[in-house]
Amino acid sequence: MRPWRAPLACRMPDDNRPRALFLVGFMGAGKTSVGRALAARLKWRFVDLDDRIEAREGRTIREIFDQSGEAAFRKTESAELRTLLKEIDETATVAALGGGAFVQPDNAALLRRVAAPVVFLDAPVETLSERCSPAVGVRPLFRDPQSFRALYEARRPVYMGATIRVDTAGKSVEAVADEIISALGLKPESGELQ
Ligand code: S3P
Repeated sequence: MRPWRAPLACRMPDDNRPRALFLVGFMGAGKTSVGRALAARLKWRFVDLDDRIEAREGRTIREIFDQSGEAAFRKTESAELRTLLKEIDETATVAALGGGAFVQPDNAALLRRVAAPVVFLDAPVETLSERCSPAVGVRPLFRDPQSFRALYEARRPVYMGATIRVDTAGKSVEAVADEIISALGLKPESGELQ
């Protein structure tokens, strides 16, 4: 695979570095774990959008869904993404987005506008379901295997619009982080383009 080259708009003005990278994909894809590993390798900060939403609201994601509904959650999610995007000129950032964030057309458009790479972490739906099962109750949209699969199938074509897709099945978090670094042509520990 040819290394991905950052469009000019996505590079730091002074040192030619990309300023952000976004991890998307379904629940259980490993966005947070891979994001932390990637950020450590690149020496960028790591941001989990759901953590920021919980901090902003003073409620868990589950509580937001239960008390205010999914539509209210999506509004907060978009607002928090906008806030985050205002910060990326200043601080190089690896950001993990919740499973539904990238499938909202407005959010995808915001990400296109900043021209930062969007990485789709993929895995078979059975694997994703197994990864989510131990924490059943935490994720409001992980209800039963049938609805989980239906939502995955509906969303997958949208995730495929990401800059790159990385299969995570059977791979360690570190191996996935390495694959992303190499596919995007990033230099570990400095984040410089090779
Ligand atoms: C959601 C996924 C969750 C969280 C919320 C909604 C979704 O994040 O944002 O429960 O719509 O798929 P994870 O993908 O990190 O589980």
